Amino acid sequence: MEASQISRQCVASLLSVFIFVSCRSSTPAASSSGGIQVAQDSREQVVAGRQLVLTHDCGGCHGGQHNPAGKGWLAGLMSPTQPFHVGACNVDNPTAKPCYVTRARNLTPDNATGLGRFTERQIFNSLRYGLRPEDTPDVEITSTTPGQGNFPLNPHYLAPPMPWPSWRHMADQELWAIAAYLKHGVKPFTNKVEESEGPSDFWAGVYAKRDMGPYPALPFPTANEQLR
Ligand code: HEC
Repeated sequence: MEASQISRQCVASLLSVFIFVSCRSSTPAASSSGGIQVAQDSREQVVAGRQLVLTHDCGGCHGGQHNPAGKGWLAGLMSPTQPFHVGACNVDNPTAKPCYVTRARNLTPDNATGLGRFTERQIFNSLRYGLRPEDTPDVEITSTTPGQGNFPLNPHYLAPPMPWPSWRHMADQELWAIAAYLKHGVKPFTNKVEESEGPSDFWAGVYAKRDMGPYPALPFPTANEQLR
């Protein structure tokens, strides 16, 4: 099965999201280690998070497109024509199996239907490690390998095409800023998005097969790169 076979109108925006890769810092924003202290939930942090959400096309899938004033900004799937189809099925073979319907969720801080009930760390962990906030406790994750450290042995990963394998390379401060914006910079909007479908291993096999590369990425230059 190929998780990348996705039939949907926003394939173009999906492609565009994979070109945004930014550098990583090992400095957790919530602590003072490394000398950089980011004031949690300050206006600047929220505004920085908003900028990252805009430039990383979150609205392209989660609603509102590229306009924070737009209808359904980050409110998740609203229309039955919007779900993704992931798996063997695609535009040419809509009935091929397996075929899973996945749905972009409500990212507004609504307590019942959005991110309101999760902490900023749970949102951070979903962007850095792909761990579903529903199924992952509010703890600092100490490894990227299932079963090592406190990384769950059987992780519940976010369904494709959520591009967390790319987002995880963003700097800690950037991910904290996004979490701060989603929790404190957006008005709650009630929109219950149906659960995504998926394989029984919660996508572990798909992500293992995908060439995600190590995290953190190998140092520059790899065999494909050069400085000239
Ligand atoms: C290509 C489409 C796509 C893009 C772009 C995208 N997402 Fe997602 N996102 C999804 C899908 C689909 C899910 C649902 C995954 C699931 O159900 O397991 C999801 C789930 C999430 C979740 C988990 C929410 C929950 O309640 O479980 C968070 C948090 C999230 N996305 C944040 C973001 C942010 C922040 C951005 C931009 C930096 C972004 N997403 C961009 C498709 C996308």
